Amino acid sequence: MECYQIEGGIPLRGAVQVSGAKNAVLPIMAAALLTPEPCVIRRVPDLSDVRLMCEILTSLGAQVRLAEGTLTIQAPNLEGHADYKLVRQMRGSFCVLGPLLARLGRAHVSLPGGCVIGSRPIDLHLKGLRALGASIAIERGYVCAEAPRLAGAELFLGGRAGTTVLGTANVMMAATLAKGVTLIESAACEPEVVDLAGFLVAMGAKISGVGSPFLTITGVNELHGAEYEVIPDRIEAATYAIAAAATNGEVAIQNARPDHLHAVVDKLREAGAEVERQGSALLVRRGPRLAPVDVTTQPYAGFPTDVQAQMMVLMTLAPGISIITERVFEARFTHAAELARLGADIVVEGPSAIVKGGLPLSGARVMASDLRASAALVLAGLVAEGPTLVRRIYHLDRGYVSMDEKLRRLGANVQRVPEPPEELELC
Ligand code: EPZ
Repeated sequence: MECYQIEGGIPLRGAVQVSGAKNAVLPIMAAALLTPEPCVIRRVPDLSDVRLMCEILTSLGAQVRLAEGTLTIQAPNLEGHADYKLVRQMRGSFCVLGPLLARLGRAHVSLPGGCVIGSRPIDLHLKGLRALGASIAIERGYVCAEAPRLAGAELFLGGRAGTTVLGTANVMMAATLAKGVTLIESAACEPEVVDLAGFLVAMGAKISGVGSPFLTITGVNELHGAEYEVIPDRIEAATYAIAAAATNGEVAIQNARPDHLHAVVDKLREAGAEVERQGSALLVRRGPRLAPVDVTTQPYAGFPTDVQAQMMVLMTLAPGISIITERVFEARFTHAAELARLGADIVVEGPSAIVKGGLPLSGARVMASDLRASAALVLAGLVAEGPTLVRRIYHLDRGYVSMDEKLRRLGANVQRVPEPPEELELC
């Protein structure tokens, strides 16, 4: 197992290239199962989640080739069984359910299970597919779905926390091959859902209302192969923007989509950072004084839950009280206790974390619990005085392409090191 050894206190300076979006490419890879023809996907990020999705598609019978950021997927013959051993490792893989059901008329997909950030039910996914006429049972930990031919329908996909991103993806993909018209109300509007719709339309699907809560899909008999380039990763871009402000540096975030980052840029400016848009780049530096701000996470276009942990780090540096409220996932504050090891003062009360900012951070050994929490711990290590050891960075490798290299190019002192023996004993 590997860790990041970080020597903090160095302002980040220079430019960083944003990679392709993890949360766009995963459902796009699943969508390639909707046709027997070859699909070519570009700007594919080199991530462990992507490699795992390649394994899952291969286990379903697809031919998958990933080389230098380009994926070729062809699934002339398909199996309908997605195994627990693979699906349990990554929730994103559950979005093979819709394409398998639409293409084969049956699917046997392991339940994805929960994770540290919440119970993560799939009731909305199943509600949507049942509305399209699928009969669905949960047996021995698997979703068993059948539908000789799905039929278009009108359905509402809103739930406890608003809409669902992968639920919208699953139902939208299934509806592309259904008989008739489907109207999804309260559909997710995330840029990753819009990107998936873009790929489906490139395959010949008929979809309107993309990017709005009202998606209309007119089913077709078959889809064809397509070539597509994935959008840049807005969460990665936001992470580097916050790193620039937190380290009191100046960073140009290149190949980004600033139009996907309004909520984050708005909060950064409110906190005193200076953010300038330069074409597809964002130039970010910390202004004269950091200020505490309150943040509430929401579905897109609100403040993204995947940036909440990183923003918490910035608020530990702003003198005064900030309140960070998590409205999307019910248990997404595991990073708060680890940030306390570095000297942060954070009290979690129900859905909110009260951050008393302005206290200096000092290096310590911390442990990552999930993808975005690990990014926050790296940012805190970049700011803290002295050495920080971030353990279990396999979480980070799931969603950030070569973060240590990108940070070193910005002047940071970050080394990927093997887990020290004494740490292994603690594992
Ligand atoms: C996607 O997860 C992303 N993952 C998550 O990113 C992201 O945090 C999330 O959307 C919200 O933006 C991928 O795209 C692979 P949801 P998803 O269904 O689709 C509840 C990261 O760090 N819900 O939109 O699984 C659910 O429990 C990851 O990259 C139901 O109640 O999230 C949650 O509270 C983490 N019933 C809320 O909705 C359902 O059937 C939003 O979840 C489905 C969801």
